[in-house]
This record gives sequence, structure tokens and C-alpha cells, in this order.
Amino acid sequence: MHTDYSDYTVKWAHLPWEVEQARQLRRQVFCQEQKLFELTDTDAIDDTAQSIVALGDYGGWPQQVVGTVRIHQSASGEWWGSRLAVSRDFRHQRHLGSGLIRLAVCSAHALGCERFMATVQAGNEALFKHLHWHTLERLQLHGREHVLMQADLDFYPPEYAPRTGFVMTLPPRAATAIALWPGLLGDQTAPVGLQNSLTKAQGKELPYGH
Ligand SMILES: CC(C)(COP(=O)(O)OP(=O)(O)OC[C@H]1O[C@@H](n2cnc3c(N)ncnc32)[C@H](O)[C@@H]1OP(=O)(O)O)[C@@H](O)C(=O)NCCC(=O)NCCS
Repeated sequence: MHTDYSDYTVKWAHLPWEVEQARQLRRQVFCQEQKLFELTDTDAIDDTAQSIVALGDYGGWPQQVVGTVRIHQSASGEWWGSRLAVSRDFRHQRHLGSGLIRLAVCSAHALGCERFMATVQAGNEALFKHLHWHTLERLQLHGREHVLMQADLDFYPPEYAPRTGFVMTLPPRAATAIALWPGLLGDQTAPVGLQNSLTKAQGKELPYGH
């Protein structure tokens, strides 16, 4: 499994593998890692919620779900986001959590949302503040400190194509390094001619080149 990809797509989940891997990631993070739930974190909200995924793409092809969140509208009309999770290896580096929050709020906004809320783990309050959310109240949930927070919709313009979503790319130089060096040059089965031309392009010779 790769621990980095050339780009990441954030979109509403609709393919069965996207939905299934999002569920697996939630179980891994909220049951096994955080131990907030014992066997499953699935609840009645999942019957109506829209799942959103961050997909790791390699060469333009989606490979795996590396992040997820879900949104739903309550009976009283407010929209809620919950079960935000980014796979451990992909945290604090690609702004995937921020991207998921962005599509969550922007796609709800396009559906007429006037109030978007979340009960956020207290440890993540700073992240949400940074993303233009404000705190309404402090509360205990699943035995842990949480904060009820609301998004400032002025910073989240409506996103009308959430099934396509958006792609988060790396700066070109970093993307080139990831695409060429670890995969191709480390692969001894790649044709020697190809290895040499790649190596020369990077200004170095392979020791066994000719
Ligand atoms: C919370 C979580 C989804 C954040 O995802 P992420 O992809 O690591 O977050 P981002 O990279 O988008 O973070 C954006 C910025 O906020 C910062 N940040 C991330 N988590 C933070 C936190 N808990 N407190 C303060 N800052 C934080 C990042 O360093 C980054 O800063 P920068 O813009 O200066 O580079 C991820 O850490 C996670 O899955 N945690 C475990 C599950 C969890 O806690 N879910 C949330 C329940 S409310």
C-alpha cells in the first residue's frame, strides 16, 4: 500500500468500494484507535447520511479511501457533519481533513443548508477554528470532551457537483519526485533503458548502467 499519492480526490461516495472502505476506515479509527465504540460505529444516521471520501489517486486512477466524513440533515432542518477520519499515515500532511470538511459544508450549502454544525472532539477545536468554525457550547459525548461548533457559511460557497468533487494536487516539483523516484527507480524489474533515461533526467547515473 502506498503512503503517498500524486493527488487526492474529495467527492461524495457512490461506488460500493468507496462506501465499504469508508466504513472500514471509520471502524479502524473510531473503534480500534480511539475506542469510542466497541464493535461498530454505525448508527441510525447512516441510513440517511451522505458519505464523503478522500481517495488517493495514482497516475490519475483512484486507489483507496484515505479519509471520510458524512453529512445529514436533521428533522429540524440543520445540517450536521460527523465521523470525520483520515487514515493515520495521511494525517497532518495533505490537508485531507480540511478538504473533507470543505466538501461536507459546501455540498450541504448547495442543497440549501443555512446552518451547518458538528460535535467536534475537543482536541480538534483549533483545527475547526482555523477553518472558520466557532464554538457554541462544551459537552461530554461518549465519555469524552466535545465542543458543539458551527461553520461560517460565508467561507463555504455552494458546491454543485459533489459527486465529481475536487482534486487536491501537490506542487509540480513534489509530485514529480513522488511519481519517479520511489516507484520506478526502486523497481529493478523496470527496463534498464527506462531506468537510465529517468536517472539521467535527474542528473545521476545508475551504477550498472551502460
Ligand atoms: C482530525 C483529522 C481528521 C484531521 O485531518 P488532517 O488531514 O490531519 O488535517 P489537515 O491536514 O487538514 O489539518 C489542517 C491544519 O490543521 C492542523 N491540525 C490538524 N489537526 C489539528 C488539531 N487537532 N489541532 C490543531 N491543529 C490541527 C494541521 O496541522 C494543519 O495545519 P496547517 O494548515 O498549518 O498545515 C485527523 O487528524 C484524524 O482523522 N484524527 C482522528 C479522528 C478524529 O479525531 N476525528 C475528528 C473527530 S471530531
